[in-house]
Amino acid sequence: MQKIVSFSKRRGFIFPSSEIYGGFSSCYDFGPLGVEMKRNIKQSWWDMMTKEEKNIVGLDSSILMSPLIWKASGHLTAGFADELVECKKCHHRFRKDFVKNKCPDCGGSFTKARKFNLMMKTFVGPVEEEASTTYLRAETCQGIYANFKNVMQAMRMKIPFGIAQIGKAFRNEINPKDFIYRTREFEQMEMQWFCSPKQASKYFNYWKKQRINWYLSLGMNKKNLRAVEVPKKELAHYAQRAVDIQYKFPFGWKEIEGIHNRGDWDLSNHSKHSGEDLKYEEYYPHIIETSVGVDRVLFSFLCDAYTEVKGGRGAGSNKEKEILLRLDKKITPIKVAVLPLVKNKPNIVKKAKEIYELLKNDFTCLYDEAGSIGRRYRRLDEIGCMYALTIDFDSLKKNDVTIRDRDTMKQKRVKIKELTGYINNAIM
Ligand code: GAP
Repeated sequence: MQKIVSFSKRRGFIFPSSEIYGGFSSCYDFGPLGVEMKRNIKQSWWDMMTKEEKNIVGLDSSILMSPLIWKASGHLTAGFADELVECKKCHHRFRKDFVKNKCPDCGGSFTKARKFNLMMKTFVGPVEEEASTTYLRAETCQGIYANFKNVMQAMRMKIPFGIAQIGKAFRNEINPKDFIYRTREFEQMEMQWFCSPKQASKYFNYWKKQRINWYLSLGMNKKNLRAVEVPKKELAHYAQRAVDIQYKFPFGWKEIEGIHNRGDWDLSNHSKHSGEDLKYEEYYPHIIETSVGVDRVLFSFLCDAYTEVKGGRGAGSNKEKEILLRLDKKITPIKVAVLPLVKNKPNIVKKAKEIYELLKNDFTCLYDEAGSIGRRYRRLDEIGCMYALTIDFDSLKKNDVTIRDRDTMKQKRVKIKELTGYINNAIM
């Protein structure tokens, strides 16, 4: 785990937030490579939901909403609270289910557990008083329920249909931990599928299967992925049934996504509290939800792809351990690198820069002329770059480049005029 954390920082994936001020607990910033990877993950999810699937439309609702929404959803009551214990000696606070009898910091004993609500409170407007209190959203789906009728009418949707949304969510977690696994600010990708009560069970199974297939389609190792039925007594306050999709992290099997049958909990409660009739024909649609954290899932893909190759990867290797990031070509941050064989031959450098200009609008691309070609290949393998293009003396005569494939390390000469088509085909 520590290896992934330091690798992520060293290679520009994830930085601790506010580091120049000593950091800010549980907050992280996505660096140049992290942000590209995150965008690729979100794009893949969005394409799956709004293009490959039928009858799903998108939404981008606001983070700040009427506090009445959180009252109706049940988030302001005990349903959305964790049990907190406090050490009687050092006064550190912990989530009860994360600790045993004694304080891990000083060995002291704990107070009795009490409920701690996870909603992040804030104030809107210039007066900090009860009347201006609202909350940062704790899940993106509430904005979907509040817009159920708007979307259905504007888009003339008929049940069954879905609404997809990607956006930030906030929870005042008692003990954020395990790097970006559990944080107080995170991003969710949620899809709410509205259907008749009779069809809810069939769609639950459908979405479970589709979501597992999404991970596999992005190259996740099947043996690190599993689906686990959530026991009845552990279900969230809104759920009738839930399956966790789990990934085998270095710290054990952990949830990365939840598939929930929320029944008519949401629409019936919002109807009751708002006075707006949210029925479809004569009934409240039932909701099957797929809910996944972008940060958490990015972390699982990083763990899955991070490989240490003992003895190096062939020519140019100094025979030490080398890192290879086997990210799938759809989510890897950099697809192509352009490398002049040497940097002291102006003709080669000029040609390489022309090729970089040719490709950079179509593919995430980097230009690198520093160090031996072997060293550059190793740096690229470390960040999961799919294709390294080398421009050498022959390139000047033949108008071609050498393309090196990250996984096979095989090299092939391709004409410059065929490059865009070749790479497009290769990364499809
Ligand atoms: N709308 C349903 C819902 O929010 P959840 O199981 O509480 O369900 C869904 O959360 C997903 O959101 C989780 O599987 C996880 O990927 C992500 N998530 C939840 N809390 C998180 C946190 N504190 N840090 C990072 N991701 C989190």
